[in-house]
Amino acid sequence: MIGRLNHVAIAVPDLEAAANQYRAALGAVVGPAVAQPDHGVTVIFVELPNTKIEFLHPLGAESPINNFLDKNPAGGIHHICYEVDDIQAARDSLTASGARVLGDGTPKIGAHGKPVLFLHPKDFQGCLIELEQV
Ligand code: CO
Repeated sequence: MIGRLNHVAIAVPDLEAAANQYRAALGAVVGPAVAQPDHGVTVIFVELPNTKIEFLHPLGAESPINNFLDKNPAGGIHHICYEVDDIQAARDSLTASGARVLGDGTPKIGAHGKPVLFLHPKDFQGCLIELEQV
């Protein structure tokens, strides 16, 4: 079921500082900041040869990232995203094995315009997992 690592998401308190650091210190290819009001975040993607890094910053008072940054003011790894071929089949198989899907369980359109869903960190070694259908 599980495919490639699509991205690792890092919640950051300062998007521009994070982008500048990856560009200047690491020589990374850093994309533009993109507001995603439906998800309550602004994101920047960093392109690496084998995967991507997603910087997440809160957008709005109801952002799901606010709580995370309150607990981790310097920022930190927020989730990792694995690719799957069939997100409905992945969800059905995972929920049958006892894993909890966040929200109502319906895949939403994620940052790349593809269906995504999130699995509860307590069911996955303490790490929030995003699945993206590619
Ligand atoms: Co993500």
